Amino acid sequence: KAEALRSPLFLYIRVHKTEYTQPMKSKSLVSIDQCSKEDILRILDNARKFEANPNRKVLEGKVAATLFFEPSTRTRLSFETAVNRLGGRVIGFSDASTTSSSKGETLKDTILMVSNYVDLIIMRHHLEGAARYASEVTDVPIINAGDGANQHPSQTMLDLYSIQKTQGKLTDLNITMVGDLKYGRTVHSLIVGMSHFNPTFNFIAPNELRMPDEQKNFCDKHGIKYNEYTEFTEDIINQTDILYMTRVQRERFTDLEEYERVKNVYILKNDMLKNSRENLRILHPLPRVNEIAYDVDDNPKAYYIQQARNGLFARQAIICEESRFLIFNFQLSIFNYQKLCQQKRKKNCRSPL
Ligand code: CP
Repeated sequence: KAEALRSPLFLYIRVHKTEYTQPMKSKSLVSIDQCSKEDILRILDNARKFEANPNRKVLEGKVAATLFFEPSTRTRLSFETAVNRLGGRVIGFSDASTTSSSKGETLKDTILMVSNYVDLIIMRHHLEGAARYASEVTDVPIINAGDGANQHPSQTMLDLYSIQKTQGKLTDLNITMVGDLKYGRTVHSLIVGMSHFNPTFNFIAPNELRMPDEQKNFCDKHGIKYNEYTEFTEDIINQTDILYMTRVQRERFTDLEEYERVKNVYILKNDMLKNSRENLRILHPLPRVNEIAYDVDDNPKAYYIQQARNGLFARQAIICEESRFLIFNFQLSIFNYQKLCQQKRKKNCRSPL
């Protein structure tokens, strides 16, 4: 452990804050606060175009790596599907114990090695700041697929896409976040992503898992209204447009007795939705454990399965946005397509997007 604490990654994380303030023109996506309102709206618009046609071969000849030092179902598989549907190829691992990091290889060396092989790295790591660190040791674009309790920017983009699709807008919405608001990187990222759109937040969490001061200070600084509760009541649900449920994450607790005390504190049941707004939609980044009863699944207001599907299109849009060489190829492919159309003098020809 002492050796690990002296490693370049630990020293880096101790010295640097985890916020990433590089603008979107940076080639890596490490944190949602890199994205301006215009960036977000453009990516959501492109996600909509990818949903209309997900098979646009703009990544032919490119290779992406998915490096997952933490478990995942949706994020890894939707990123891999995104690259495949865009015509690229994928290498990577989903179990770091099968890699040389189990022999003591540092994250820096792993990133430098993988950079020898690929054009894009998509990485999930349990340490906050790991994605930013990776983005500073390589020239290959990095997409943060989750770093500890810190950030999960691609999840935020698919959440914003889901909110826009279901509400017809992003502005002036009442968003209730429930569960693990302390360690939940998806809620931390979503607050930043929604900050451009005048939201009102309700934060519902037990005292042990309440929203950290950092996020509340962010709301104060940006004039965002929020209320805090420890009770999960129908009254709050009935004033809500988006109900964002989260899992209590066992893997983030050092004290398992504390986890046992809070793990089942809030469970959404179907009869709690009977007086909810017509436009209410229930989101959850998933996986769920006990926090949404299975009888909610058949309620038309349950949207978490479609939300995960939206991840594919949002991630296709992010991949094309993030990497300059990819954007270049992407624009080139649009250019070639249009040229081809002109040459063939086809009527009604449509751009790939
Ligand atoms: N939402 C999300 O990050 O899911 P996975 O952990 O399955 O990737």
